[in-house]
Amino acid sequence: MKILVTGGLGFIGSHTVVELQNKGHEVVIIDNCSNSSADVLDRITKITGKKPVFEQFDLREKNKVQDFFNRHDDINGVIHFAASKAVGESVENPLLYYENNLSTLVYILQQLTGKSSTANFIFSSSCTVYGQADELPITENAPVKEAESPYGNTKQIGEEIIRDTCKVASGLNAISLRYFNPIGAHPSSEIGELPIGVPQNLIPYITQTAIGLREQLSVFGDDYPTSDGTCIRDYIHVVDLAKAHVVALQRLLENKNASNYEVFNVGTGTGSTVLEVIQSFEKVSNQKLNYKIVGRREGDITAAYADTTKANNELGWKAKSSLDDSLGSAWKWEQKVRG
Ligand code: WQD
Repeated sequence: MKILVTGGLGFIGSHTVVELQNKGHEVVIIDNCSNSSADVLDRITKITGKKPVFEQFDLREKNKVQDFFNRHDDINGVIHFAASKAVGESVENPLLYYENNLSTLVYILQQLTGKSSTANFIFSSSCTVYGQADELPITENAPVKEAESPYGNTKQIGEEIIRDTCKVASGLNAISLRYFNPIGAHPSSEIGELPIGVPQNLIPYITQTAIGLREQLSVFGDDYPTSDGTCIRDYIHVVDLAKAHVVALQRLLENKNASNYEVFNVGTGTGSTVLEVIQSFEKVSNQKLNYKIVGRREGDITAAYADTTKANNELGWKAKSSLDDSLGSAWKWEQKVRG
């Protein structure tokens, strides 16, 4: 099948393109390269031996989106990753996030609806929509809470736009995947996370500290109500996450969806504290990590990890990589990129 992947040169997008090609799909990528580089296309090709079709343009340009779908009227499914995703930046520049993350979604959905054919759409959402859930592990029925950031709000609003469109637009079948914390890199070390500037996320900061690019990791608070005082997250290997997209798409292509709009949590189901992540990293890298405990980071929640029952039972998907495996792949990638 011919699948459009927006943001397909990004961290999760590139890993998903590889898994789609491994399943025999023909992939078309749209990416504006604002947070990715075109050489990822060659790296994907090196892994799979198949070069995806790539068009570089900004999805905020409505006429270019319309032109794309006029030229590609045989798309069988769309996986939509393209979005800005830095929580802190979204607080500083909310309108950039509302414009980029929401107008692009609307323009794509406008091209997918109102047509005779059915359209299959997978949306990149986030566990951020739950905020600090009242109960752990978090199920898909947990209430969506007021977003902690404009970034998180664009995921909530994005889901509502899709849900409302599915209600009225005949032929649109959609699934929102609520990611927990994606980490790691492809085992080939050809693709992985490439944060621009100082990493905001824990794992790239750890690997950059270990390789000597950063002086010391700051652990944001050890006075949370957890086993060791540091925050708990559900760290999922990016390849496991990529495979969840392929399985979700297949569910729609084979008309196995229970309704025309579904939501799935995509995590491992296991929570790890920051200190447990550090201990795991020190074990897999066989070196001590230079870190210090500092004050809490604004906006951080205490704990989030997924109840994966629905994805396991209905999608037939389960994460396979352990925290050690995921951190080992992240470390191997860092050494390759900086080596
Ligand atoms: C994880 C834990 C930090 C950096 C964010 C987004 C989420 C998703 C994933 C896009 C927290 C601690 C971190 C550091 C630290 N992004 N930490 N020192 O905040 O759970 O989720 O990224 O979809 O939407 O909200 O991930 O990796 O930033 O933080 O102590 O230098 O590591 O306090 O407890 P987070 P993170």
